[in-house]
Amino acid sequence: MKVPQIDLWAHHEPLMEEFRQAMDRVVRSNQFILGQEEKDFEKACAEYLEVKHAIGVGNGTDALAISLRALGIGPGDEVITTPFTFIATCEVIVALGAKPVFVDIKPDTCNMDSAKIEPAITAKTKVILPVHLYGQAAEMDPILEIARKHGLKTLEDAAQAFGSTYKSRKVGGLGDVTIFSFFPTKNLGALGDGGLITTNDDDLYEKCRLIRVHGAPKKYYHTLVGQNSRLDTLQAAFLRIKLNRIDEYNQKRTDNAQAYSGVLKDFVGVPVTHSDCNHIFHQYTIRTNKRDELKQFLNQNAIGIGIHYPYPLHLQPVFKDLELEKGSFPEAEKAANEVMSLPVFPELTTEQRAYVIDKVKEFFS
Ligand SMILES: Cc1ncc(COP(=O)(O)O)c(C=O)c1O
Repeated sequence: MKVPQIDLWAHHEPLMEEFRQAMDRVVRSNQFILGQEEKDFEKACAEYLEVKHAIGVGNGTDALAISLRALGIGPGDEVITTPFTFIATCEVIVALGAKPVFVDIKPDTCNMDSAKIEPAITAKTKVILPVHLYGQAAEMDPILEIARKHGLKTLEDAAQAFGSTYKSRKVGGLGDVTIFSFFPTKNLGALGDGGLITTNDDDLYEKCRLIRVHGAPKKYYHTLVGQNSRLDTLQAAFLRIKLNRIDEYNQKRTDNAQAYSGVLKDFVGVPVTHSDCNHIFHQYTIRTNKRDELKQFLNQNAIGIGIHYPYPLHLQPVFKDLELEKGSFPEAEKAANEVMSLPVFPELTTEQRAYVIDKVKEFFS
């Protein structure tokens, strides 16, 4: 049996007729960038995410950059974030000339440890940027409280957490600004690139909307230096079809996760869901100190796995100027050596799931 890490064709095949109809509509409308379908998608996202504003952009990385620019971040500023995330979270901070300041993660959830934030705050700190890793929200109440106390803004990277909740509230309207990615393998994925910014703040909404279209409030009239990062109409139309089913997709991921954990807890460290959170399992990430051997064994048995992530950001060559040494963030470094994501996509069959479980058990027996 073969089990891929993710099977996008199995995900898309049942939707093909709706995709064809959407394409027909969009091509006939002659609107390819933003457009009415994109506006409708933004509205549907805002309603679903229980937030006032949603802004469709080119991808999740641009969503981060536009949000930071709207928050006024530039040279001399510091942004507190996690060293255990995808490069984009940190790359945008550096690209704007600001400095990322890392705080270590909690060993159970791999999310930023809120208890380590206050000692990292300096006079230059402007933003706290937590990541809702693997589909589970970071500790938002303590983070928002620290931000309030120190007059800081929050930007949440929810690229992996569409539909996730914290204390029964959807991620997307908790802090000042939140971003999502619609990269095809994300739990809500486009058929290409796409991203979203959400906020309840009218001023930040206006700024983000302007920045995504060359700082132009009307055609050929520019009030600030922006960039070009707009969601394609076609992608918005495709995403709308999947948005209608996102709860079902997230539930299937959760069912797979629960089935895995019920057995695998006796062999490996299984994901911990915090009682405040509804984890949507964008990734089902286990931990074991035999990670590399298990990876090889599963690959030999035609099971696709992912390592999210093999190198913590403070040890990436690209950030050598930060002069952070091995040992600076021990929990992130340990996680990088131990984590492995198993196939958890919604269309995973019970036979495939049982096969993965059997192979993990076989490895440890
Ligand atoms: C945590 C995180 N942040 C940001 C991004 C960037 O999103 P995109 O690939 O849409 O630019 C991703 C996804 O790749 C991600 O996983």
